[in-house]
Amino acid sequence: MSETSLSPGWVHVLRDGTKVRLRLACREDFPLWCRMIEACTPETIWKRFEVHSKEVFLKRAEGFFSCGGEGELVVVAELVERPGTLVGEARMCLIPGGEVAEFCVLVADPWQGKGLGSLLTELALRMGKERGVKRVLVEVVPENVTIINFLRKRGFRFRRDPDGLIFLGEKILD
Ligand SMILES: CC(C)(COP(=O)(O)OP(=O)(O)OC[C@H]1O[C@@H](n2cnc3c(N)ncnc32)[C@H](O)[C@@H]1OP(=O)(O)O)[C@@H](O)C(=O)NCCC(=O)NCCS
Repeated sequence: MSETSLSPGWVHVLRDGTKVRLRLACREDFPLWCRMIEACTPETIWKRFEVHSKEVFLKRAEGFFSCGGEGELVVVAELVERPGTLVGEARMCLIPGGEVAEFCVLVADPWQGKGLGSLLTELALRMGKERGVKRVLVEVVPENVTIINFLRKRGFRFRRDPDGLIFLGEKILD
């Protein structure tokens, strides 16, 4: 599946032969990131950001974009054959103290189901661990069964929050 071992900057070949480069996000990625969001369905935007309208989301996009300051680690996937086209991201937001991070992942709809979400998740978790993260948290809307199953297979344990509106996941990095 991959040409090299999994690490940022390397090129990986997805299940359908698409080549992606996994790298850390930078400030200049904002317009590219917006184009990636435009390629997402409203359902994907809802599952990732809990915002119903894509148009409303894009108006406030700057507030959601972050290229990973000191407290954040953001990995993006860029098409090798179409430089400047981002197709997915995974991020770890470090909670002050450094040992706990919040995780989230998104793959734009046309590139889902090809193995990219798995790659991004594995890389973000590995990089978090290298930075000293010991516990990873995730918040998911209950109807997002795909991501709950996906993360359960990768060692996350889930429980409903007390008011039942959110599933809270946790993974200990060992
Ligand atoms: C969840 C998500 C990141 C998965 O990315 P992806 O690139 O499609 O995932 P992969 O191709 O690596 O597949 C991962 C697994 O999910 C399964 N899967 C992928 N799409 C699926 C679908 N539509 N329905 C059911 N299972 C699906 C695959 O079979 C695979 O199974 P495995 O765990 O046995 O390997 C992607 O669907 C997405 O961005 N969803 C919307 C945003 C979101 O929900 N983010 C989570 C908030 S933190």
